Amino acid sequence: MNRRFCKLRLLTVAVTLLLQVEVTQAKDVDWVALNPGLQGATSVEEITECYDCHEEYMKPYAKTKHGRALPGDCESCHGPMSKHMDAPRQKPPLAISFKPIGGLSSDQKNAICMQCHEGGEQSYWQGGVHEANEVSCNTCHYLMERKSDRSLTIKENAATVCMDCHIEKRGQSLKSSHMPVREGKMGCSDCHNPHGSYALHLLKTATVNETCYQCHAEKRGPFVWEHAPVREDCSSCHDSHGSNNPGMLKTKGAFLCMNCHQYGGHSNVPGYNRASATVGQGCVNCHNRVHGSNHPSGAKFTR
Ligand code: HEC
Ligand code: HEC
Ligand code: HEC
Ligand code: HEC
Ligand code: HEC
Ligand code: HEC
Ligand code: HEC
Ligand code: HEC
Ligand code: HEC
Ligand code: HEC
Repeated sequence: MNRRFCKLRLLTVAVTLLLQVEVTQAKDVDWVALNPGLQGATSVEEITECYDCHEEYMKPYAKTKHGRALPGDCESCHGPMSKHMDAPRQKPPLAISFKPIGGLSSDQKNAICMQCHEGGEQSYWQGGVHEANEVSCNTCHYLMERKSDRSLTIKENAATVCMDCHIEKRGQSLKSSHMPVREGKMGCSDCHNPHGSYALHLLKTATVNETCYQCHAEKRGPFVWEHAPVREDCSSCHDSHGSNNPGMLKTKGAFLCMNCHQYGGHSNVPGYNRASATVGQGCVNCHNRVHGSNHPSGAKFTR
């Protein structure tokens, strides 16, 4: 077992340097605590025999990143195999199973993955909202076969996995104005880190605005004339998940502005008509620089 882990460490280091996925040094797992049937089981370094019975899983698995980075290694995730080889048909299996028959809690399953994945994007997993709600790694990932282009997610469009639980977000993605998430051009994970985060709402960046600036850099400013709510929080006007108002606005037309502003201040404005200001594009017809203005006389965001 030790020799194998040694080889594994070297591989892991090499792999980490070459590719982005950050993998930590493998740690030991108390297999007997996970499956008492494994008491006395030892490592079987030879996996050719596994083919006799598990070829259908092993072939596609060999093409995954795990299969390539950890060739011939089944035991890092399934525990020592000697007793399974002696009694392959015993139920529950004398091996670690991630299925209900294996009897593992989500924490126990996750600990197996965390042997190697406690760094990088998974750094904030412990105590994160998914961990705390017993969502396990294999709720979102399927490991024995590539079912998606990226990151072994259980479905090609990872957002549909999220929407299985976050039904209200599916609803929003169907609204007329939405980010191209449903279309697969963007994922929930462009804004969220589903593994956990130091920020609120599993956001990948410290604030909502930093998240938006990643793609909407032109909104970052600084502007000569700043509009306070834009600097503070894009989501005071926009719903990031979708809405039936144009531009993913939370409220329609003038009512959005009137959440914070009165009608006043227009008595001298030529062409201003209180009735027409509240229909259609209303306020932004004139205040068309609502995100901020660099024009010398743009203090009122009209140019
Ligand atoms: C003689 C046939 C046979 C051999 C050889 C064999 N297995 Fe199995 N294995 C089985 C059977 C049967 C099951 C139970 C399958 C089921 O319940 O669907 C099983 C179950 C498993 C499970 C649990 C699957 C799950 O999630 O429920 C794992 C993991 C596993 N085997 C790994 C291995 C590995 C690794 C090897 C080689 C070291 C191996 N097996 C060798 C027949 C075999
Ligand atoms: C990096 C962890 C990992 C390694 C290494 C690994 N497996 Fe698995 N295996 C899993 C997980 C997790 C599952 C449960 C299905 C899933 O969610 O991917 C699983 C499921 C299985 C199953 C049941 C298949 C099913 O979906 O019902 C078999 C059989 C199996 N593995 C055999 C093997 C064999 C044989 C090897 C070595 C060639 C191996 N596994 C290596 C993590 C691993
Ligand atoms: C023994 C160490 C080890 C264990 C245990 C392990 N992994 Fe990995 N994992 C790796 C390595 C190595 C890679 C490949 C890194 C690379 O090639 O960039 C990887 C890659 C991944 C990837 C990215 C795959 C891709 O195609 O980009 C996912 C997702 C992943 N692991 C999830 C899991 C889950 C879920 C578990 C637990 C069921 C798990 N891993 C257990 C070592 C491990
Ligand atoms: C709520 C769903 C979800 C859960 C739970 C989840 N993942 Fe992921 N994971 C994803 C998605 C989605 C991606 C793809 C992110 C991307 O490509 O932008 C991903 C990517 C990854 C990657 C590759 C990217 C990287 O560099 O890290 C690894 C490794 C990984 N997950 C491991 C894990 C492990 C280990 C666990 C359990 C501790 C886990 N995941 C739990 C959804 C999830
Ligand atoms: C198995 C169900 C399940 C899946 C799948 C799932 N989640 Fe969650 N998620 C939860 C639960 C439970 C909570 C905590 C309760 C809540 O806030 O709704 C949560 C909370 C969240 C939160 C709120 C965090 C906060 O602090 O406000 C975000 C963001 C989130 N999930 C994003 C995602 C993303 C992105 C995916 C897909 C990669 C995903 N979830 C997949 C169950 C799931
Ligand atoms: C464009 C960036 C972005 C995308 C894409 C995105 N979110 Fe969010 N999400 C946010 C922001 C910002 C917040 C926090 C403030 C808010 O609600 O506007 C948030 C909050 C959440 C929350 C917690 C608060 C709530 O409203 O319940 C959940 C759950 C959530 N998102 C799930 C998802 C899921 C699932 C997806 C993919 C279908 C997704 N998000 C896609 C930016 C995004
Ligand atoms: C990963 C890149 C990315 C991130 C992060 C991002 N957006 Fe977008 N956003 C897009 C793309 C792509 C479009 C669609 C552009 C198009 O269709 O022309 C878009 C469109 C929009 C639209 C216009 C929608 C419409 O119907 O006209 C608004 C408003 C918007 N984003 C606000 C935000 C906010 C607020 C955030 C932060 C919570 C954010 N975006 C984060 C990529 C991103
Ligand atoms: C005070 C309310 C408000 C705030 C706060 C706000 N927006 Fe907007 N946003 C609007 C309005 C109104 C429109 C529609 C403008 C139009 O129709 O001319 C819009 C349109 C957009 C569009 C699509 C059209 C374009 O200008 O590209 C994007 C993208 C956008 N906002 C991103 C952001 C980002 C990113 C933030 C945070 C930095 C933000 N918004 C903050 C009110 C706001
Ligand atoms: C979330 C609250 C909020 C929303 C929504 C909002 N604003 Fe503002 N707006 C402010 C604050 C705060 C200021 C700064 C007030 C100050 O400095 O006295 C401001 C300043 C302004 C100013 C400059 C006022 C001055 O006296 O110089 C104009 C013009 C303006 N907003 C127009 C709009 C328009 C048009 C909309 C709708 C698209 C809108 N605002 C939506 C909060 C908001
Ligand atoms: C016909 C064009 C027009 C329309 C429509 C319009 N505004 Fe204005 N607004 C202006 C001009 C021009 C000023 C600058 C007046 C000044 O400097 O005396 C102004 C000033 C403001 C101010 C600053 C008030 C102050 O005391 O300095 C606010 C706030 C404001 N508008 C909000 C709105 C809101 C909210 C709406 C929609 C209900 C709206 N405006 C519709 C042209 C318009």
